[in-house]
Amino acid sequence: MKFSSASALALAAVASAKPCPETPELPKPVERIDLGPRPGYLVDDMDEGPLKEKLKQCLDDTTPWRASTWSVAHRGGATLQMPEHSLQNAMAGARMGAGVLECDTAFTSDLELVCRHSQCDLHYTTDILMRPELAKKCSEPFTPVKDGKPASAKCCTSDITLAEFKTLCAEMEGQNPDATTVEEFHPSTPKWRTDLYGSCATILSLQDHIDLALSLGLLHTPELKTPQVPMPFKGNYTQEKYAQQLVDQYRDSGVPPSNVFLQSFLYDDMLYWLKHEPEYAQNALFLDSYGETAATFPNAVANLTNYKADGVQWIAPPIPYLVAAKDGKMVPSEYAEKAMELGLRILPWSLERSGPLYDVKENGDYYYMYFNDAVNNDGDMYTLLDLLHEEIGIEGIFTDWAATVTFYANCMNIQLL
Ligand SMILES: *[C@@H]1O[C@H](CO)[C@@H](O)[C@H](O)[C@H]1NC(C)=O
Ligand SMILES: *[C@@H]1O[C@H](CO)[C@@H](O)[C@H](O)[C@H]1NC(C)=O
Repeated sequence: MKFSSASALALAAVASAKPCPETPELPKPVERIDLGPRPGYLVDDMDEGPLKEKLKQCLDDTTPWRASTWSVAHRGGATLQMPEHSLQNAMAGARMGAGVLECDTAFTSDLELVCRHSQCDLHYTTDILMRPELAKKCSEPFTPVKDGKPASAKCCTSDITLAEFKTLCAEMEGQNPDATTVEEFHPSTPKWRTDLYGSCATILSLQDHIDLALSLGLLHTPELKTPQVPMPFKGNYTQEKYAQQLVDQYRDSGVPPSNVFLQSFLYDDMLYWLKHEPEYAQNALFLDSYGETAATFPNAVANLTNYKADGVQWIAPPIPYLVAAKDGKMVPSEYAEKAMELGLRILPWSLERSGPLYDVKENGDYYYMYFNDAVNNDGDMYTLLDLLHEEIGIEGIFTDWAATVTFYANCMNIQLL
């Protein structure tokens, strides 16, 4: 089987653009998991103590590494260095032992599902602005910086068809607010990521992603992204149809409910799946965003009781909801204690999304916001993972660099494949 390739028409339209990699044969399961140098770098950087000693022993263990379903590939699993939601990123995630691959889903103008982190991120995650024929279809054209107003554009998956989408190159996420030209606008990669793999990565439809995860023998986690256009779209495409279409595509591809972890930030999507797709809802993750400030955090804790009562079994909060700092040490937060007490299954996001950790206290970082007093070096990432595993009992964790989590999972023998 091959990746469904772009139509001849669409290919002709980009004949003059950068060549994209050949659509490859579907890969076989990865036989040799390779974790690279980063886990060792992080262990060396840890504060002294029994956890460091234990992890050091595992670094020297000669048993082959195994993939783990505890290691959940975020936007691919190698997003720290590779364009998100691309074939190359997902392959790197699989080679680093991710057991679950993520495709965030958005819809095209012809109502096909594609992998994108946001329905309207094409202007800062692909080369669409460099393709005049497609750029002119964008919801909002590129506008240079002017009179203190940042440079902007808005290009959505729903602006173009699936065939057009498949001609795009996936690139590193980033936009430059000071851009005066399209060339200056994107990419604009933070210096701790890299453009080394970012020239033209292979973009994926949901079907490509399902075929890929199936052929690699891995599990699936699609997120139904919140639409950025008013629903219903095109008259009769409702939120419910969109939520149903996602499940139908897995069922039609022969993926059983036990192998799919649906996700959504919209509670109504959870309620829809619980009512209409109870089997697929068993593993559905509610992405929590109710505790984004210290003022609203108590609501997030209080809401947990409602989720449990409604039959939601899995919650996916951002990491900082789960951890507090006490006397300079990381401890389970009130939210974590409550979720454990209710017996909710917890799968947080996302490790390895931040730059170097030595400056999170100074400069702030979303993923450490409620416990940055307890963090000052990269090695603290394993102290954090250990807390999440040992004291909170998380069921896995999304990560932008799968090897970091796979290593810990191998060392502690967690959910190995
Ligand atoms: C929406 O309406 C159009 C035109 O009436 C119809 O062809 C199409 O099948 C409908 N789509 C859905 C998703 O119901
Ligand atoms: C969570 O809490 C907020 C504030 O109390 C409330 O408005 C919201 O409806 C709750 N959400 C859910 C899904 O229970």
